[in-house]
Amino acid sequence: MSSELVTVAMPKGRIFEEAVELLRKAGYDLPPEFEDSRKLIIEVPQSGMRFILAKPMDVPTYVEHGVADAGVAGKDVMIEEERDVYEVLDLKISSCYMAVAALPSYDPGRDVAPKIASKYPKLTSDYFREQGEQVEIIKLNGSIELAPIVGLADRIVDIVSTGQTLRENGLVEMETMMPITSRFIVNPVSYRTKAAQIDEMVDRLAEVVGKEGVS
Ligand code: PRP
Repeated sequence: MSSELVTVAMPKGRIFEEAVELLRKAGYDLPPEFEDSRKLIIEVPQSGMRFILAKPMDVPTYVEHGVADAGVAGKDVMIEEERDVYEVLDLKISSCYMAVAALPSYDPGRDVAPKIASKYPKLTSDYFREQGEQVEIIKLNGSIELAPIVGLADRIVDIVSTGQTLRENGLVEMETMMPITSRFIVNPVSYRTKAAQIDEMVDRLAEVVGKEGVS
């Protein structure tokens, strides 16, 4: 077995704490300052790991390019980014779903090509193509719920977790699209060259998640 560290790309933000908790449950000895640090690279040699902290949408990019051997990425990001990585385990954390929402007064038959605001232009475009509906997509980087309120878009496609953001902004869900959870992803080359370390990591995580999480 190589003594090289395994580099794992972690998503900063919402998913991070749940992912760290899962790793600790899997027996990885992560230092307490792990969550509080502003460092973007954290080495944990006693666990044989190096963590890089990236924007959630960028995690598959680091893994595809091989600068990270593995990573934690939401299914939403995996669908949107279509990166050449292996999705080896459903970690069953950060559970939420993707939905179409609008103002309650919105009439879906009103426009020929309604404007849809989303952080996920590819996923949104694929979805409406499958539905046979012509739409115009407006790409935003966050606060998507704002778009219908100020008249930038007719509908939105976004993640719903507790539903609080929709409720507090007076929007209603029109369609549920797909369930979303975080996935453990691996670079195809690393999967061979660091097989022992990565297999062990997958096994330990799978044990915590429950064997039914392995896909
Ligand atoms: C996400 C998502 C929704 C919200 C859903 O945004 O885009 O806006 O969380 O969560 P809820 O159903 O529990 O209210 P996030 O907070 O990640 O920030 P963003 O608006 O900048 O994308």
